[in-house]
Formats: sequence, structure tokens, C-alpha cells
Amino acid sequence: MKRLTVAIDGPAGAGKSSVAKLVANRLHYLYIDTGAMYRAFTWAMLKNHIDLADTEAVQSLTDTIQIRLEPAAEYCRVYVGDTEVTEDIRTADVSSHVSPVAALAVVRTKLVKLQRDMAASGGVILDGRDIGTVVLPDADLKIFLTASVEARARRRYLELQAKGSTDTLEAIAASIAARDDMDSHRAVSPLKQAEDAILVDNSQLDLQETADLICRIIEEKQ
Ligand code: DC
Repeated sequence: MKRLTVAIDGPAGAGKSSVAKLVANRLHYLYIDTGAMYRAFTWAMLKNHIDLADTEAVQSLTDTIQIRLEPAAEYCRVYVGDTEVTEDIRTADVSSHVSPVAALAVVRTKLVKLQRDMAASGGVILDGRDIGTVVLPDADLKIFLTASVEARARRRYLELQAKGSTDTLEAIAASIAARDDMDSHRAVSPLKQAEDAILVDNSQLDLQETADLICRIIEEKQ
């Protein structure tokens, strides 16, 4: 049985990371959350008050930053140097700043190298936007996981409602559509389905059904 290198790409809110975590746990693969790495870099930019336009400071941060993912039971712990930032990278502040940071070529060059090094041993699932197209164009298996804007907005709406948020479904749908647009139209490594990726639309599937389907696809290929 071959331990594959699996790329899962797709837009925000399709459930990539939840699905990738479930699948990795079931198959005893290592889960690598590449979005968390862009978030960790953004966290460090904010912490050090570095402006996006300050190319020297951004370059200097890319030269010195140490980002580390440590596999935990159901997720990745994320460290910048010795500081654990697993929770801090999920704040609204980081979420609202990460897209333009992830569009910087110097940042992508640094993080893509790190991602390739981490994936080198096989038995890995990476989720992101450019894994099948740029990071691992020779991945054994590529999945493009997507769902309609409406389905993704509905899921997010229910999640936020459970936390007491009053955001409307329309506002959430608009914000998801705006993020899709930004991630798909940036100059460097835009979100796009690799030609040899398998398209999985999970608008009508829940998390478990999506994970079952992807496990089956992997097991057929192993
Ligand atoms: O999946 P996420 O929401 O944690 O990703 C955070 C941001 O990082 C999002 O704006 C897209 C970007 N990203 C990227 O450009 N390339 C990746 N491989 C992963 C995420």
C-alpha cells in the first residue's frame, strides 16, 4: 500500500480543513494546514506592526520567521518561534488581514518551500488554494473541494448563530463571494482547479459524507 501525497484545494468555507483532518486521522496520514501558515505569518506581521507596503520589513520577517506545525490529535498546533499561536491565528483581526499577505510573492516563496519540505515523506494531506497547481504539481492525488456560495454561507451562518452572532445570511454570502474573488484573481498563485484534480462539490453532502467519499478515492489509489 502506497502512502500518497494528497492535495485538497478549494475556496474558503468548503470544509477543506475539517474534511482533511478527518481523512488524515482515519488513514493515519499527516495533516498539513497551509492556510494556518499564511495566518501565522499574518499574525507575526500584525504583532510586529509591519505594514504590507514596507517591503524591507516584510523581506526581513520572511528571512527570520520560524513557523512550525505540530500534529495534534485532531488538528495542527501552530508555532511562530517558541510561541504557540494555534488560537490567535483564528481571530477576526488575522482573518481580515490574511488575504493580502497571502498575495505577497516573497511570503509565498518562503511558505511553499516549507510546505514541500514537510510533504516530502508522503502519507500527507495538504489543504490550501495552490497545492495541486503550485506546491505539489506531482501530487499522487488532487481533489478540488467546493460548494455553492449559498451552501457555504448557510454553514457559516449556522456556525456563527451558535456563537451568538447576528450577522445576516446575505452579509455572510457577500463576504464569502468577496474572498473567493480576491483569492481567485490575485496575480500570484490564484485559486484554481488543477487540470488533473478530481472535482468534489459537497453542496449536498455533510462533513462525514464528504470525508467518506474522499477516503474512498484515496483508498482506491493507494
Ligand atoms: O484556509 P484559510 O482560511 O485558513 O486560509 C487563510 C488565507 O490564506 C486565505 O486568504 C487563503 C490563503 N491561502 C493561500 O493563499 N494559499 C494556501 N495554500 C492556503 C491559504
